[in-house]
Amino acid sequence: MYLLGLDIGSSSTKASILDSQSGQCIASTHYPKTELSITSEQAGFAEQDPEVWWQCVQAACKALFALDHVDASLIKAIGISYQMHGLVCVDKAQQVLRPSIIWCDSRAVNIGQQAFAQLGEQRCLQTLLNSPGNFTASKLKWVKENQPEIFEKIDKFMLPGDFIAMKLTGEVTTTASGLSEGTLWDFEKQDIAEHLMQHYGFDANLIPTIVPSFGAQGQISAQSANLLGLSPDVQVCYRAGDQPNNALSLNVMRDGEIAATAGTSGVIYAVTDKNAYDPKSRVNTFKHVSEPSQADSNGVLLCVNGTGRLYSWIRSLLAETGQNPDYESLNTLAAGVPIGSEGLVVHPFGNGAERVLENQNPGGQFHHLDFNRHQLGHLMRASQEGIVFALKYGFDVLKNMGVQGEVIRAGKGNMFLSPVFREAFVNTCQIPVELYQTDGAEGAARGAGLGLGVFKNRDEMVAGLKLNECIEPASDKVVAYQNAYQQWLNKMA
Ligand code: XUL
Repeated sequence: MYLLGLDIGSSSTKASILDSQSGQCIASTHYPKTELSITSEQAGFAEQDPEVWWQCVQAACKALFALDHVDASLIKAIGISYQMHGLVCVDKAQQVLRPSIIWCDSRAVNIGQQAFAQLGEQRCLQTLLNSPGNFTASKLKWVKENQPEIFEKIDKFMLPGDFIAMKLTGEVTTTASGLSEGTLWDFEKQDIAEHLMQHYGFDANLIPTIVPSFGAQGQISAQSANLLGLSPDVQVCYRAGDQPNNALSLNVMRDGEIAATAGTSGVIYAVTDKNAYDPKSRVNTFKHVSEPSQADSNGVLLCVNGTGRLYSWIRSLLAETGQNPDYESLNTLAAGVPIGSEGLVVHPFGNGAERVLENQNPGGQFHHLDFNRHQLGHLMRASQEGIVFALKYGFDVLKNMGVQGEVIRAGKGNMFLSPVFREAFVNTCQIPVELYQTDGAEGAARGAGLGLGVFKNRDEMVAGLKLNECIEPASDKVVAYQNAYQQWLNKMA
């Protein structure tokens, strides 16, 4: 039997097929091959068309199912991973009413801040484990205030992954974990956050039916089965935001286990069995996708928006000149420059309000540029170091909340493919990193297997997961990275 994993990212949709018996990925692709665009009509805005995500799913499936060794009729379950905190609004006919306001859109920062003050900070922290911040609920409030004619037509609002599940099954559903990432989950009552719903003036009917993260969430509709070339008995069996899903992909499921990603955004995600929060909401606690047979747990999430986004931005600037350097050659240039980038300091904050900076948006910054010394390699190294230092800055917030762990697990992809990034990360954060040969789409397929019951527990689910390498901090490098980090911090003032 095969399991299909879909990862709806802001740069592309990835799709993987996992053989449930061997636990191995047998085919994988992503679409489009060049990064999806993000529309920004005003500074701080970031939107994408949900129908484009659905087209990407179709194109990725088409490419996978055309492979000679793939028999799509063997696929029995689908798992969905998706970019978090976005807002999708549909009418009664399930038609999209406006572009999605995605995770890195900052327009709702002030709305969330006001709600935090008006509802009472302590009450928000105790119930939501967060400030309403710039998450999905605040984005919907923005639509209510600024586009009332659209708001009136909304039958349901949802997250990007709920939208893809709707397209697949024709049913409008969401999950408790999904509601928590929109700050719409009350952790005290373990129910919808009515106080925030009331405060924002949202009717309870706007929320889709809640289904468990694992289990039958809906059967594929005849129309979508036909469209994709899947058999009509396929079920959607798992759904999670891309960060809890990354944790699941890496077998980070229990208290004390930590995962990281360094894709478009960079994240350190620690599983905890406590209702922990940061009083300043610089890191955020959401409901984890806990193994069905185990007690619920949470994920404390540190996010740096401008991670791979900074790197891809520099690459796109170079492409404008007609050159098209690949990431590997840029990484080689970075490796030729000493630790600390000979004084060049980069703050990677150019992709929307940064939660770790209390939702400020200082923009990306380059300090100490010396035109007579610094070359492209310096820019590439300083960018990678700057991203690592921003992650370290947030990791310290996590540690102050009591997060402890012996090791961080990550998939060997995106920025973790860069030797400079890996070295900077372990030596700055002073923690070993285990790199696994996996990604979010494969993880979503594993989650679907757990949801379908073909895997009985987490051990069976991750049986095919391969550890690629473990990278340890090196005593001769730690001091140099600490010094460089200090230079970076000095420029934060
Ligand atoms: C996590 C976050 C980002 C997006 C990227 O809180 O906002 O990592 O999920 O897709």
